[in-house]
Amino acid sequence: MISAGIVGGAGYTAGELLRILLRHPEVHLDFVFSTSQAGKSVSSIHQDLLGETDLHFSGSLNREVDVLFLCLGHGNSEKFLNEHAFSETTRIIDLSTDFRESRPEHAFVYGLPEINRAEIQQAQFLANPGCFATAINLAILPLASKGMLEDEVHVNGVTGSTGAGTSLSGTTHFSWRDNNFSAYKAFEHQHIKEITENVKQLQTGFSSDINFIPNRGNFSRGIHVTSYTSFQGSLETARELYESFYADAAFTFLVDQEVHLKQVVNTNKCLLRVQKFGNKLVITSVLDNLLKGASGQAVQNMNLMFGMEETTGLRLKATYF
Ligand SMILES: NC(=O)c1ccc[n+]([C@@H]2O[C@H](COP(=O)([O-])OP(=O)(O)OC[C@H]3O[C@@H](n4cnc5c(N)ncnc54)[C@H](OP(=O)(O)O)[C@@H]3O)[C@@H](O)[C@H]2O)c1
Repeated sequence: MISAGIVGGAGYTAGELLRILLRHPEVHLDFVFSTSQAGKSVSSIHQDLLGETDLHFSGSLNREVDVLFLCLGHGNSEKFLNEHAFSETTRIIDLSTDFRESRPEHAFVYGLPEINRAEIQQAQFLANPGCFATAINLAILPLASKGMLEDEVHVNGVTGSTGAGTSLSGTTHFSWRDNNFSAYKAFEHQHIKEITENVKQLQTGFSSDINFIPNRGNFSRGIHVTSYTSFQGSLETARELYESFYADAAFTFLVDQEVHLKQVVNTNKCLLRVQKFGNKLVITSVLDNLLKGASGQAVQNMNLMFGMEETTGLRLKATYF
């Protein structure tokens, strides 16, 4: 059994990790660290876990755990690791943006299994991708893998309110979000950097813009993204490219009909649909921001890092209705 610790235990991504890890056949949950809830039972905060665990949030850490998940807001993971040393053998999976961009000062591997599986299997430190970044990367990286991103990429995406975390803000307040729709951070969303870096990893000379308009949707979970760019080949060529790029992917599938959130919410899947209109290729991608966009993908990466079957603990059931 692998011993696991979670830091930032009261938040949304930590809650999803708990739900998966408590049912994971190869994991023993050692501690759930929380600065705000130490001493309280885990099920008093993640209330659906009543009857599932007797764990209490901890104010102290076991520095010898096999794997540590950091579920902290941006900037706090790097600070936390500077202040707390762990065993030389502890593998660290960070869900924030802190280590997603490669820098000479850190050795974190970008955890998108669809492009980095071999590196992830060897990694001690892993930067889990962003939720929008996963949906957009999976939509456009097959094109980049063949040097076929010849032009700007235009992206429009919608996320549910859990994407913003547990802290209440004006735009996550029910009375603002309900019956509402709005765009934010147009052309400036923080995930554009990691997407651009991934595209350049596969298509070195890529220098066009990735124009991304994120939107806030009136629902709690899920990401729906449409991306389009110029494409000279036929639709059949594009479909063959995507089929072959994802032939070995455990959770990413090309489908031939409309994709929607009910297919993926509560699962670790990303579904893609490819269409062609004139000389434009349109790729629609859907996933659950808290699973394939965060905690599910983090467990997928943990499975790979510890040599387990990639899907262990992740055969989840969509809510659908
Ligand atoms: N939500 C998503 O869909 C999603 C998707 C992909 C990636 N992510 C990333 O995953 C990370 C966690 O997201 P989340 O949605 O779980 O956020 P969250 O619900 O806001 O939880 C973050 C947790 O961090 C701890 N915390 C808050 N302020 C802190 C501070 N100043 N210093 C140290 N710890 C602090 C708190 O835990 P305690 O009170 O228990 O200590 C809090 O519950 C973020 O970096 C986020 O960008 C989120």
